[in-house]
Amino acid sequence: MTDLFLAKEDIRKACIFDLDGVIVDTAKYHFVAWRNLANSLGFDFTERENEKLKGVSRIDSLNLILEWGGMNFSEKVKANLAFSKNEDYLSYIKEMDESEILPNVVGILEGIYKNPNYKIGLGSASKNAKLILDQVGLTKYFDFIVDGSMVTHGKPHPEGFLLAASEMKVLPENCIVFEDAPKGVEAALAARMFTVGIGREDDLGHAHLVMADFSETAFAEIEDFFLGLV
Ligand code: BG6
Ligand code: MG
Repeated sequence: MTDLFLAKEDIRKACIFDLDGVIVDTAKYHFVAWRNLANSLGFDFTERENEKLKGVSRIDSLNLILEWGGMNFSEKVKANLAFSKNEDYLSYIKEMDESEILPNVVGILEGIYKNPNYKIGLGSASKNAKLILDQVGLTKYFDFIVDGSMVTHGKPHPEGFLLAASEMKVLPENCIVFEDAPKGVEAALAARMFTVGIGREDDLGHAHLVMADFSETAFAEIEDFFLGLV
């Protein structure tokens, strides 16, 4: 009952971050590792095609790449290919440190962390999400981390974002999602969350708000949009 008398600003809320492309730029390492794999199979693909892999799970990415190369393998061979791509990818990830955190991500995280009304979650399709957050020293900010091993359905399905919200005991409509992938934006919208696209308006125009990056933004400005004050 008391909830009825809470001001909008006092309702328990959360920010849920995608990882790859929002917190760190790992797409370049995924690209190198997938390309090495494609080259070893005798074909190549472009950076433009690589854009289509953003937000897409490891096995779905492999299936797309094999389709581009006109190849198909048994599930067992595909599992081996995905494993060796990941081994290659991990050799880059293990070299990462805080210098690879994207501009002002720490400033935004600090702004939210200091606000007692907000929890902070991660909603990533990557099975390497926890390792990457540890590598760059950001794990401490997160109340709950959803990675690719915890969901059955990949983005654009809302499962990952909904799981993060329910684990933090926050209603979906009280969550703000930060996403760089068109499919991730679709997933956040399907979860009925306020969705901030990080990237180009052309790709992410379906989000509630689009920003090129976090470099010139304070969390309070984003919150004003979320609360309908702008
Ligand atoms: C997403 C990336 O965050 O994670 C995709 O945008 C990637 O490109 C997916 O394929 C799965 O990542 P991982 O680390 O589990 O292979
Ligand atoms: Mg992403």
